[in-house]
Parts: sequence; C-alpha cells; structure tokens
Amino acid sequence: MQIGTPLSASATRLLLLGAGELGKEVLIAAQRLGVETIAVDRYADAPAMQVAHRAHVLDMTDPEAILAIVHRERPHFVVPEIEAIATSALVEIEAAGLATVAPSARAVQLTMDREGIRRLAAEELGLPTSPYRFAGTLAELEEAASVLGFPCVIKPVMSSSGKGQSVVRSTVELTLAWQEAQTAGRVGGQRVIVEGFVDFDFEITLLTVRSAFGTTFCAPIGHRQEAGDYVESWQPQPLSDAALREAEAMARRITDDLDGRGIFGVEFFVRGEEILFSELSPRPHDTGLVTLMSQSQSEFDLHLRAILGFPVHPGFRRAAASAVIRGKNLGWGPAYSGLEEALAVPESDLRLFGKPSAGKLRRLGVAIACADDVEEARDRARRVVAAIAIRPAS
Ligand SMILES: Nc1ncnc2c1ncn2[C@@H]1O[C@H](COP(=O)(O)OP(=O)(O)O)[C@@H](O)[C@H]1O
Ligand SMILES: [Mg+2]
Repeated sequence: MQIGTPLSASATRLLLLGAGELGKEVLIAAQRLGVETIAVDRYADAPAMQVAHRAHVLDMTDPEAILAIVHRERPHFVVPEIEAIATSALVEIEAAGLATVAPSARAVQLTMDREGIRRLAAEELGLPTSPYRFAGTLAELEEAASVLGFPCVIKPVMSSSGKGQSVVRSTVELTLAWQEAQTAGRVGGQRVIVEGFVDFDFEITLLTVRSAFGTTFCAPIGHRQEAGDYVESWQPQPLSDAALREAEAMARRITDDLDGRGIFGVEFFVRGEEILFSELSPRPHDTGLVTLMSQSQSEFDLHLRAILGFPVHPGFRRAAASAVIRGKNLGWGPAYSGLEEALAVPESDLRLFGKPSAGKLRRLGVAIACADDVEEARDRARRVVAAIAIRPAS
C-alpha cells in the first residue's frame, strides 16, 4: 500500500461518514500520514469537518445521498463513524468495488441493529450474553418481561448512547419504557430488545484490532456509565488472566466472523469469573478516548493503520483515565473557561470537540490524565473537568 500526496492525482482519499469527536481523531491521525480526508455529517461544522480537507452536509440515512458523494469524491476508503447510516449503500459500494468499507459493510450492517449483533453472538456463535427477548409491540414486551423477570433493561434495537433505554423494575413501568423506546430511538416505531439486568462487578471495553498481520488486543478499559452513556473510563482495568483470555477468545471469534480491517470496541460485563458479551462497535469506541494518553498508538491511530494495511502496535505506556465534559443546554457557540487551572493538573490533557452547539447532556469535550495508577489518573481527569466552566455565548 502506498500513500499519495493529498489534493493531487496520487492522493489516498478517506471519506468519513459521521463527523463527531471520534471521527475527528481518526482524521487527525489520517492527516498525519498524508491522507486526503473528507468528512460527512448531517450538520455543518461538525468536529471532524473542522480538520478535514473537505466537508459535506447530507442525510446519511439516504442511500442515494451516500452513493452520490462516493461517486463525486471517489474515496479509496469509506469509514463509518456512527450507526445511523443507510447500510444498503455501503453494501453496494463494497460489492461494486467503489471503495473499501472499513471494517466491512457486513460489520456495520449487523451492528447498527442490536438484533443483528445479539443473534450472531448468542445464537450463531454461542457466546454467553445476558438473557434476552425481542418485542415489536407492548403486548410482546409484557410477555418478554414476564419471562425474563425484573429488573430488566429495554432498548430500541437502533439507538446509541443510552437513548430510549430504560431499566424497568415492575410491570407498571413497562408502558412508559415502551413509549420511551418508541420516541427516543433513532427512528420511531422500532422493535426493542429486553435484557435481563446483569448485576455485574464491572464492565470493560476490549479494543480489538484486525490488521493485515492478525488480531491485536489493547489492555482492557474499565468504564462507568450513567443513564446508558459513558462518563469516565480508565486503562488498564485489572482482570484475572483466565478472564482476560476468555474475553480475548470471544472478541476474536466475533470480530473474525464480522471480518475486515479496523478496530472494534468489544463490550463485556464481568461478574465474578463469568464474562458476558454485551455489544460491539466496528470502529473506535468512546471509552477508548483514554488511549490518546495511555498508549503509544491510540485507538484512532490503530484504526487508521489497520484500514490502510499497516502494522499496528498499541504500546501500552501508563495508567490513564478519561472523564467526559457535557453541555447543559447552552445553545450555540458556548465558551470554555477555567482552562489555566484545568491544565495545571499534572500529566493531564484536554480535547474540546468544537461542537457548534451545546445541547443538554451533549458531550463537548473530554479530559484525560495519566498517573502511577488508575485511581490517581481518574482523580486527575475529574479535577480537570471540575475546573472547566462552560458559558453560553454572550
Ligand atoms: N442487561 C444489562 N444489565 C445491566 N446493565 C446494562 C445492561 N445493558 C446495558 N447496561 C448498561 O447500559 C450501558 C449501555 O448499554 P449498551 O447496550 O452498551 O448501549 P449503547 O449502544 O447505548 O452503548 C452499558 O454499558 C451498561 O452499563
Ligand atoms: Mg455500549
């Protein structure tokens, strides 16, 4: 694989579908290797657009719009960064040989729908998961909940970051959970997955890289979620050797089945010596932002290198943690202050994503810090976040 010169006839072009904060880091990694970058999202000035050679605003759920932009830009690589994409267009791009879809159209298609990936993991590959049922009506949901018992977790099959997700403790709460899943998911009128609630000791993301040279794992990442959305993560999360081997074996099986090159964020629940597969992202994982400091090649570098066909070396360096900075309905163009104090925290760093507007609970930035151990790193990352104030534009 050779890399050409950006903006010339020899350019190696990468088109990113979804231009959020994770995509921004992927494009920065691509820029460093001299790749020509094109960012696409449904709104203007999205984070990754601000570091791309070119940007386009379009409806990524419209297959015609995706095909049109691929014909116009002629990228060598199409890299989906979000789940809400018309995957039929990706299948067509791959089948017609228009571009390499990373990691593969099938991986993106199966994971955009919780039903696809759960049935593959549990029913085809036999991986242990939480007990689950799918439901397409409130009556089916009631039936599923009566079989699984309470508490149970209800999620629209197409949703991310905890949207439309509820933990239900009794039958009377089911109607509300059903309505929540119908209105807050990516599209209305969706099926839901009902999962038995797993009282896990902790949960991990196992970043798994499929490159031309085989499969490589990063050290496990621990994380804490609130209302289904990540608030902090750290690496490494201590895990027994046996548990780690089991998680790696499961991650290898499912990513081999999905095929293609790139990074996968494979999520597991750990309860005693038991490891349950939860879900996976066929792309960098939000909890993996911590690797910007903990590894010599971050999850973004690894994804890019694997996609381009290059060798990958995570190179774990030092215990680190990340903590999320959220918006509070501050409208357009908020301003960030307190940075002098925030950045005085030892071994800390900061990413402000540059999102044009600060909606309620929107992720606007992340603090990252290293230390001798994970506890100290978590404390440092939290101190960075605490020092930052966000104000509406005056
Ligand atoms: N069956 C479950 N039991 C206990 N906690 C769960 C269960 N399913 C999800 N969660 C919690 O909610 C978080 C988000 O759920 P997940 O399925 O990963 O959805 P998303 O696609 O929004 O990340 C998980 O990381 C975990 O903390
Ligand atoms: Mg998840």
